[in-house]
Amino acid sequence: MRTPLIAGNWKMHGTVAETDERIAALLPRLSTVDHADVAICVPFTALQAAVDSTRGSQLGVFAQNMHHEPQGAFTGEVSAPMLAELEVGGVVLGHSERRTYFGETDRALQLKVPAALEAGLQVILCVGETEEEREKGDTERRLRHQVQEGLEKVPSDRLGDVILAYEPVWAIGTGHVATLEQAQDALAFVRALVADRDKEQSKRSRILYGGSMKPDNAADLLALPDCDGGLIGGASLDVSQFTAIVEAVP
Ligand code: G3P
Repeated sequence: MRTPLIAGNWKMHGTVAETDERIAALLPRLSTVDHADVAICVPFTALQAAVDSTRGSQLGVFAQNMHHEPQGAFTGEVSAPMLAELEVGGVVLGHSERRTYFGETDRALQLKVPAALEAGLQVILCVGETEEEREKGDTERRLRHQVQEGLEKVPSDRLGDVILAYEPVWAIGTGHVATLEQAQDALAFVRALVADRDKEQSKRSRILYGGSMKPDNAADLLALPDCDGGLIGGASLDVSQFTAIVEAVP
C-alpha cells in the first residue's frame, strides 16, 4: 500500500516571515491528517526557517533543486549534503521550470537523483511533456526519455524510493488540467517504465500528478488507480485550498 503524498511547490514565493506565517496557518489544519504525507517545497532562503517551524510535525520540507557534486567550484549551487545538514527531508528535481528556464537536462538529473538518495534525501523527480510534444504524439517518447535517464543510475532496489511527479507542462499554471484519461494514461505509463526495470519496485513507486490540481478537481484525480498524490503549485499558496486538496485524498 503506497501512502499518498500531497506536496506544495511554493516555487519562488515566500520570505522567511511569509514562510513562517504560512506554516503557522497550515499546521493546525493538518493536525488531524493521518491518511497522507504532506510536504512543502520552499526557496533555499526559507529552508532553515521551514525546518525549524515544522520540526516535530508531520509536515515535510523539500528543497527545489541541488547540484549533484557534494562540493566544488559551482557558484550559486548547493549540494545534497548541504541540504541534509539543514535536516531538509527531500528535494524536487527536474521541474519543468528548471528545464525550461535554466536548461536542466535529463543527463544532469541522471547524476542528481542518485546523489540526493545517497545523501538521505527523498526525491520528487518531475517529468512531463510540452503541448507541442503531446500534439505531435510524442508524449510517451518524452516521458520514456525523462524517466529512463533520471532513474538510470539509481540502483534497482531503490527505484521505488524515487517519487515521480507527472506534470504535463501545458497544465502548469494554466488552469488547463489534464483530463482524467490523459492523467491516468500518463501515470500508468510512468509506472510501467519503472516496471521495465523492476516490477516489484514499480508497485512501491509513488507517482504524483501536478498541473492545475485544485480543490474542485483533486478528488477525481487522486482517485485514479495510478495516482498517489499531487504536486501543487498555485493552490498550495492558499492554506484553505491546499488543505482542501489534502482532505480530498481518498
Ligand atoms: O510543481 C507543481 C507545479 O508546477 C504545478 O503548478 O500552479 O499548476 O498547480 P500549478
